Amino acid sequence: MDENLLPERITLRQPDDWHVHLRDGDVLKTVVPYTARTFRRAIVMPNLSPPITSLRSAIEYRDRILTAVPMGIEFTPLMTVYLTDNISSKILEEGKNSGVFAAAKLYPANSTTNSGMGVTNVKAIYPLFETMERIGLPLLIHGEVTDLDVDIFDREAVFIDKILQPLLKKFPSLRVVLEHITTEQAVDFVGTNRCNLAATITPHHLHINRNAMFLGGLRSDFYCLPVAKRERHRLALRRAAVSGKPCFFIGTDSAPHLRNAKETSCGCAGIFNSPNALESYAEVFHQEGALQRLEAFVSEYGPSFYGLPLNTNSITLVRETHFIPQSCQLDSDKQSAESLVPFHAGEPLSWRVLRD
Ligand code: DOR
Ligand code: ZN
Repeated sequence: MDENLLPERITLRQPDDWHVHLRDGDVLKTVVPYTARTFRRAIVMPNLSPPITSLRSAIEYRDRILTAVPMGIEFTPLMTVYLTDNISSKILEEGKNSGVFAAAKLYPANSTTNSGMGVTNVKAIYPLFETMERIGLPLLIHGEVTDLDVDIFDREAVFIDKILQPLLKKFPSLRVVLEHITTEQAVDFVGTNRCNLAATITPHHLHINRNAMFLGGLRSDFYCLPVAKRERHRLALRRAAVSGKPCFFIGTDSAPHLRNAKETSCGCAGIFNSPNALESYAEVFHQEGALQRLEAFVSEYGPSFYGLPLNTNSITLVRETHFIPQSCQLDSDKQSAESLVPFHAGEPLSWRVLRD
């Protein structure tokens, strides 16, 4: 690719993030501004401890998020509800009718962070999907089986075969997002399926394969779930992201964990990418010679899938190599020395968001 032919700036319709973890408490205050300064809206994951399982807890969480949005920035958190074995259809209906729940999230029990109250038997909650299909509440899925006898690198592919296929067959009109896909099986499955099935793709799964976790030692900064797979899967994800197919769209899965929770003998899964998520996607589209398709991926396919209007304001990226800081300090009242390590820490990226 002739670099000289590339524009110096690209102006895009402002993007949204269709999958983010904003956490709570002090961390919330630190991470919300990173998302809100780039994204106009975000689908906020409900896996707090305890999780968001009621209309009231979703409204209170939304208020705490809004309090953390810097003055002068317009940002709309779109709330999700966490499905459990016992949640009632009535809660889903109330949440949807009141305009608070934008979607419901299915975590197979013990599949990831704070998923202990997740669903132990997906078939047993089919009545909830019936309600969701009827009222038009999208289902967001952490697509991994949790059986310990299934290899961790196969858990997404097995989930697609054993859980997702029958679910889609039974609920043909249910809108479903297979979140943070990591395999060529997921790319093929979603890319050739019905139009009310979509997938989000994270920046990190486009940049790293599983080797990143073991480069020169055990590198917990690159540990997330679903875990990064072999190189051929990363390449399939990159092809999907730049394909121009509306069923593949942005969802950063930015998932901050304090440094000491990552650097321990049982470190948490999650990559904190919100400080440079848009730049990270731009790097991929640039490398793939597909910058002309970046806007649709980050700003158009998501709202279209959710049936929401496109944003009308814009954001500009300038071509300028800059280095990502090694860490982000916590904005804490307690002046805690804790920090978060951002994705691409210490690395250069070629595009920078122009801010006022
Ligand atoms: O890496 C991940 N981190 N994957 C998830 O599914 C959850 C997330 C988190 O909340 O930490
Ligand atoms: Zn997530």
